[in-house]
Amino acid sequence: MSHTLQAVRGMNDILPEDAALWEELEETLRSWLRSYGYRNLRTPLLEPTALFRRAIGEATDIVEKEMYSFVDELNGEALTLRPEATASTVRAAIQHNLLYGSPQRLYYLGPMYRHERPQKGRYRQFHQVGAEALGYAGPDVDAELLLMCARLWDDLGLSDIKLQLNSIGSPEERLRHRAELVQYLQAHEDVLDADARRRLHSNPLRVLDSKNPQMQAMIEAAPRLLDHLGEASLAHFEGVQQVLKDTGIPYSINPRMVRGLDYYNLTVFEWVTERLGAQGTVCGGGRYDGLFEQIGGKPTPACGFAMGLERLLGLMQESRAREPAAHCEVYVVHQGSAADRMAFAVAEELRNYGLSVLQHCGGGSFKAQMKRADASGAVLAVILGEDEAASGEASVKHLRVAREQVRVARSELPDTVSNLLYVDEGQEAVSELAQPPLN
Ligand code: HAM
Repeated sequence: MSHTLQAVRGMNDILPEDAALWEELEETLRSWLRSYGYRNLRTPLLEPTALFRRAIGEATDIVEKEMYSFVDELNGEALTLRPEATASTVRAAIQHNLLYGSPQRLYYLGPMYRHERPQKGRYRQFHQVGAEALGYAGPDVDAELLLMCARLWDDLGLSDIKLQLNSIGSPEERLRHRAELVQYLQAHEDVLDADARRRLHSNPLRVLDSKNPQMQAMIEAAPRLLDHLGEASLAHFEGVQQVLKDTGIPYSINPRMVRGLDYYNLTVFEWVTERLGAQGTVCGGGRYDGLFEQIGGKPTPACGFAMGLERLLGLMQESRAREPAAHCEVYVVHQGSAADRMAFAVAEELRNYGLSVLQHCGGGSFKAQMKRADASGAVLAVILGEDEAASGEASVKHLRVAREQVRVARSELPDTVSNLLYVDEGQEAVSELAQPPLN
């Protein structure tokens, strides 16, 4: 016997029990994005490796050690499974001249791939929803992106997600800061770990992002980029903060935040929660005014964010009691050859009325079929036996409240079914009102 095969480590099957919540979240996300005028962009999961190397930066964790890159044996192309989709979005915008004439607000939702060490909230295949505002110089659009996030937490009933904000200025400002930072780091070389030493010259800013406890005091006292910002950068940063103040969105400035990708300038931000353990960043983003040029386009200002769906779902699951979702509203039980044939027509007819209907397949006794009907979560069973088939009728049994089974002419079945479903909903509403609120 051959051994059983398993999914790739860090890549999860999403089983139907959980997929119901995924679908609910995806629907909420799409209507939220549409309400801000964002339109969907769908790019390939595979891109030329050069795209991510150029966009994300050679000296980042993602490019150095987390990309699923390979050479296509059939034609020698160097390809990479997308670790994020900002680079793909910009590539597509340039390739299809999407910004000709007007700026664009675009969104994507789908799987991303990073070869990280899997743990709770961190996977090798994970899902992001991302919004990218292309062709906007801000700071109004930066602020709008932050308002969007705040509204989503509200829509999803999530609290305790805190906004951290920073400005990393312009490339020139960073260069000036970098010179000072390198000097400072060299003066403290004795406390630098191997990673920091390696990055001292390739990407010193990232040293400030280290979690190594031995380095925290040194990092705390390092020269701050925020102190090197010129007038224009400060005005942009002020502009973003003004809107947050006007609209009452609390935030804190984190001068150490640098983000894990190199394409950012000016505004950078993260939304962080303490309720998810070590992987508490729910959303990250910022401005990337240099990226279009970096991958061969015309200079184009842009800003965006991406959120991890697994992390959002983690928070949603924590904050609500879970009930198994019903598979359907109506379950059709049938026995006898005439009734078996009638079942197809009855089920299709009920679907014409917009109902979700599970038709029993595979035969079995009435008793066994009724057990399946109950397990499906359906509210009603439509029962077709030899009697019903002979008289052109159908029986309807309520599965959730004690009620007489009724028998009606087939022509009356859709009405009877909708009425019973409706009555049940009404009853639920009443019983909900009669109960004390959950918290
Ligand atoms: P990022 O910070 O690398 O930014 O990822 C954004 C979010 O994706 C994170 O905050 C986290 O919620 C989720 N995430 C990242 N890696 C994993 C993982 N291994 N497992 C589970 N969730 C993960 C970007 O990707 C940028 N493209 C965001 C952006 C858009 N900036 C501008 N526009």
